[in-house]
Amino acid sequence: MKVAGEAMRPLRGSAQRDAVQVIDQRLLPHRLQLETLNTPQQVFTAIRDMWVRGAPLIGATAAYGLALQMRLDASDDALEAAADVLRTARPTAVNLDWAIHRMLRVLRPLPPAARATAAWDAADAIAEDDVAVNAAIGRHGLVLLQAAAERKAAAGRPGPVNVLTHCNAGWLATVDWGTATAPIYQGHAAGLPLHVWVDETRPRNQGASLTAWELGQAGVPHTLIADNAGGHLMQHGQVDLVIVGCDRVTARGDVCNKIGTYLKALAAHDNGLPFYVAMPTSTLDLTLSDGVAEIPIEDRSGREVTHLSGRTAAGEVVEVCVTAEGTTAANPAFDVTPARLVTGLITERGTVAADAGALRRLMETPR
Ligand code: MRU
Repeated sequence: MKVAGEAMRPLRGSAQRDAVQVIDQRLLPHRLQLETLNTPQQVFTAIRDMWVRGAPLIGATAAYGLALQMRLDASDDALEAAADVLRTARPTAVNLDWAIHRMLRVLRPLPPAARATAAWDAADAIAEDDVAVNAAIGRHGLVLLQAAAERKAAAGRPGPVNVLTHCNAGWLATVDWGTATAPIYQGHAAGLPLHVWVDETRPRNQGASLTAWELGQAGVPHTLIADNAGGHLMQHGQVDLVIVGCDRVTARGDVCNKIGTYLKALAAHDNGLPFYVAMPTSTLDLTLSDGVAEIPIEDRSGREVTHLSGRTAAGEVVEVCVTAEGTTAANPAFDVTPARLVTGLITERGTVAADAGALRRLMETPR
């Protein structure tokens, strides 16, 4: 996607194959700052501390982390140790483990001397595949947006298709396009009238600071809302459909995504609105079934709830505390939406029902 007219990605391997450049997403939307990562340790820190975030992006970044390790020491021990460390950087998004597995499948059979080149090629392939996968999700999701526009017109309801999204499943969360945003960007480019309700997504505000910024850069009409506003808007006919991303989807279609997603799904269900999840198949974890019981949920610092950061009128970015001294806060970072609340999963292979049979058939169908 473009920022101020210039093509931009949140992750790029260097031409010399000795570093990766990332956007430090902690600083957006106030500052667009690129950082260079030269070692697997730096990659680990960038994922753990959320310079890079979003399920597909942390997978691709970890792949480059292993590639950087192979430049330093490509022995079996070094490979396994780096893989073990990188996969613990964050616990919930399965894409991290998926990307590391894909790298290990390529690297383990090779002699150490061949690993550095092969690892960089494999990391590049993961990154480029992500772009193609998200573009395909965009094409399949666009059909749903067009259908929503037709339904709206047939019902004599004027105005754009109103999409509600939660967190940031945009291009910043992937190598390009985003997942939930890919249909929106493609629809906007095709001239489909669209408007996006952007949940602020407390406590880290990925909606307010990242999704709203992205949509603004692309010229997509959007409105930021407090997380609690979605249900009200749905009751008043101001939402036509919901599209969110995901961090892990189980074999039976339970969807884990940013905390608060479940409440949006409940509200959509109560109002008879379609609730779609954009899911690259790299986010499918066929080893798990019951999402609520089995998906590991990241527990983050309570400080993210008690403190907020923002820009003062003087342009300085500061952090403030919003609670009384000593208030303790809990901060589960993700929740699980049961499959029964999901209208469909928009994948790179098409849109499917969130159920075990549909997902099995999707994965078994030769490509
Ligand atoms: O904690 P984050 O910012 O990494 O959480 C991101 C999300 O929950 C996204 O919705 C998900 O990773 C999908 S990104 C295409």
